[in-house]
Amino acid sequence: MGAGHETVFTLEATPIKFGPGAAADAGWELKRLGVTRALLVTDPTVAATGHPDRIRATIEAEGIEVVMYDRVRVEPTLDSLQEAADFARDAGVDGFVSVGGGSSIDTAKVADLIVSHPAPVMDYVNPPIGGGRKPPGPLLPHLAIPTTSGSGSEATTVAVLDLPEHGVKTGISHRYLRATQGIVDPELARTAPSEVIASAGLDVICHAAESFLSRPYDSRPAPATPDDRPPYQGSNPIADVWSAKALEHGGRFLRRAVADADDVEARGMMMLSATMAGVGFGSAGVHIPHACAYPIAGLKHEYVPAGYPSDHRFVPHGHSVIVTAPAAFRFTYDAMPERHHHVAELLHGSPIADPGPETLPDVLRSLMREVGAARGIADLGYGEEDVPALVQGALKQQRLLAVAPREAGPDDLSAILRASMENW
Ligand SMILES: [Fe+2]
Repeated sequence: MGAGHETVFTLEATPIKFGPGAAADAGWELKRLGVTRALLVTDPTVAATGHPDRIRATIEAEGIEVVMYDRVRVEPTLDSLQEAADFARDAGVDGFVSVGGGSSIDTAKVADLIVSHPAPVMDYVNPPIGGGRKPPGPLLPHLAIPTTSGSGSEATTVAVLDLPEHGVKTGISHRYLRATQGIVDPELARTAPSEVIASAGLDVICHAAESFLSRPYDSRPAPATPDDRPPYQGSNPIADVWSAKALEHGGRFLRRAVADADDVEARGMMMLSATMAGVGFGSAGVHIPHACAYPIAGLKHEYVPAGYPSDHRFVPHGHSVIVTAPAAFRFTYDAMPERHHHVAELLHGSPIADPGPETLPDVLRSLMREVGAARGIADLGYGEEDVPALVQGALKQQRLLAVAPREAGPDDLSAILRASMENW
């Protein structure tokens, strides 16, 4: 690369303990981290599985006090995050343990941030929507224990929130938000409904594919200072390793994990893939499908997804991401054809003869159909008349669009969304 281009990339990862039964180490891990009074953060559906109570018992067995917070909202909002943060502050805890999907882990990240460095949540939200304030120092210990196989949130520096009044989802991202330790226990995924496994798994595949197909890190201008280096750096040789493995596993195990709740091997491999993809996209970044997913999930709340809590209507994250992936990767194809072929073959599990621009979109469509994904954004409640608003929402995600391998302007995003109304 010539002068003025980035020459450095970084890879950070949450220490992870993986395996069936690993959740029994929760108390041991918190004690090792010096926690004496922990807030256990979970949502009502996960609480009903009994996993949080069992984990609580292993923590109390180590002499650590546990305060329960089981009111996490699936797809957190500013209000739900603020409520959790206020609860955590009033509870006087010195550490956090999250048990659940990305919503619980992200809520714990934000509660930890606010307890560690008090300020209104909005101050820390990514600009231009929020203040973009950087956490001034490390947070209290956070042990993250996922019970689904999707978000990879245990491995990332990001917390996502829904802002219904802005019709958009955005987030807080900083390296200090990364959990201190993760425990990934396949036994915990056994209770998840097939629809949740499908949506989560499609999210994993998008994390890995978008990362692998992101703009190379050394095509960016060099930052003025290390502090200006973005959390999403673009594809790089180490992130590629994690993304590629997650794609290979996703192609091999997602169908099985959806079809059979007792297939602990497949569900375990999807959990591991979620974490691996989290390491990859935590370094490289996600772009067009995730930028489109935020307004798709945030603009209308009409969809009633099967297999999820019925207390409010929403578009599960995995559905909102995967619906534009075929069109998005058709758009990015010309920027790096070989890499698109490689992603298609990793998902397919074997070489594909005469690959071309439609190969990866076709592989994604057949996987979507087989695991029961939404057919397109029309299924999620949107019509042609909504495209301009969706484009405006996607354009707010400049932090993500910046790592797309091809610049995506309003007309490009409009074309991608129109092509994603119905994928088959
Ligand atoms: Fe995602």
